[in-house]
Amino acid sequence: MDTVFPFGLPGPTVLYLVLYLATLVIHVLFMNYVLAGTGYLAAISLFEKRLPEQESGLVARTLREWLPFMLSAAITAGIAPLLFVQILYKKSFYTANLLLFHRWMAILPVLIVAFYLLYLWKAKRVLAWPRLVTVPLGIVTFGCFAFIAWSWTENHVLSVNPGAWTAHYAAGNMIYRNREVLPRLAVWFSGAFPTMALLLSWQLWYLQRDVPDQEVQGRQRMSLLALGGLCIAALSTALYVASVPSEIRDVIFSRAGIVYLFLAGCGWGVQFASWVQMKRAGRFERIWLTTASVGLLMTLCGTAVVREIARWVRLNGNELSAWHEEASQVGGLPLFLIFFVINIGLISYCIVRVRRGLVTES
Ligand code: HEM
Repeated sequence: MDTVFPFGLPGPTVLYLVLYLATLVIHVLFMNYVLAGTGYLAAISLFEKRLPEQESGLVARTLREWLPFMLSAAITAGIAPLLFVQILYKKSFYTANLLLFHRWMAILPVLIVAFYLLYLWKAKRVLAWPRLVTVPLGIVTFGCFAFIAWSWTENHVLSVNPGAWTAHYAAGNMIYRNREVLPRLAVWFSGAFPTMALLLSWQLWYLQRDVPDQEVQGRQRMSLLALGGLCIAALSTALYVASVPSEIRDVIFSRAGIVYLFLAGCGWGVQFASWVQMKRAGRFERIWLTTASVGLLMTLCGTAVVREIARWVRLNGNELSAWHEEASQVGGLPLFLIFFVINIGLISYCIVRVRRGLVTES
C-alpha cells in the first residue's frame, strides 16, 4: 500500500469503508460512555459519600440517569458497522465468530443482564442498600461491559490472524490468546475515559448553566479523568504498536497511515490542552468543551482509519474488492435512503418535542 488510504481503492470498497468507519466512530462514542461510566460508578461505589436522603452527587446521579439510554444508543449504533464489516470482511469476520463459538454468543445474555443492572442502578432505593451489596453490584455491571469489550477485541484480533484459525479450531479453544489482545484492550479502556468525561461534561455544563461558579460540580473530576485517560491511552497505544508484527508497524508509519496517525496525535494534543484549560477555569467553559470535542473527533477518526489500514494489510484487502463490487450491485440503496430520511425526521421530531417539554417545565 503506497498511497494515502483509501486513495487508489475501487469506488465500492471506498464507499463501504467510509460508511463503516463513520458508523463505527458513532458506536465508539456511546460505547465509551458506557464502558468508562460503569467503570467510574464501580470505583466510586467503594468510597462514595452519600448525601442526606440517600442522594448521590451530581456526577454520579447524571451517569446513573443516562447510562441505560447511552447503552441503547451504543447497541443501536453498533448495528450499522456490524452490517458494513460483514460486507467488507465477510470470511474473516464470520470465521472468528464461529471459532469463538459460545464465548462469542455469550455477548448477548451478558448484554441483557447488564442492561437490567443499569436500570437497577437508576432506582433510588438501591442507593440505600448497604455497600456489601452495592459494591459487588457495581463491579458485576462493569464486569459485564468489560467482558463485551474483551470479546470484540479478541474477535477482531482472531479475525486478522488467519494463520491461527486451524490450530485454534483443532484445540477447541474458546479463548484466543495473543500478545496483542491486552494492550489493545488497554487502549480501548483508557481511551473510553476522555470520551465519557467530555460527553458528561457537556451534560454537566447544560445542567449547571445558571449555577454560580463556586457551586459548579464535577469540573475538576472530569478534567482529571480525561487527562489521566489521555496519558494512559498514549502509553497503551505505544505498547500496542510495539506488540504488532513489524511489517504492520511499517505500514502504519508509511505514507498510507502517517497522515491519520498525525491526525490522531494532533487531536490528542488539542484534547489535552483543552482539559488543562478547563481545569484552570472556574466552570465548564463552552469554548474548551468545543475544542475538546473537535480534538476527540480527530483522534477517534484518525485511530479508526489506522486500525483499518492494519486490518486491510493483514487480510490482503485488495483481494476483497471484487466481492465489494459484487455487493454494490445487489441494490437496496433507494430503500436505505428512504428509511434514512424517515428516521432522521423521526429523531428530529423527538428532539423538538423533548426540548419543548423542557422549556414548558422550566
Ligand atoms: C456496551 C457494550 C459494548 C461494548 C463495551 C463494545 C465494545 C467494543 C470494542 C472495544 C470494540 C473494538 C474492538 C477492537 O477493535 O479491538 C468494538 C467494536 C465493534 N462493536 Fe462494539 N461493543 C458493545 C456493544 C456492541 C453491540 C451491541 C454491537 C452490535 C450491535 C457492536 C458492534 C461493534 C462492531 C461492528 C465493531 C467493529 C468490529 C470490527 O471491526 O471487527 N458493539 N466494540
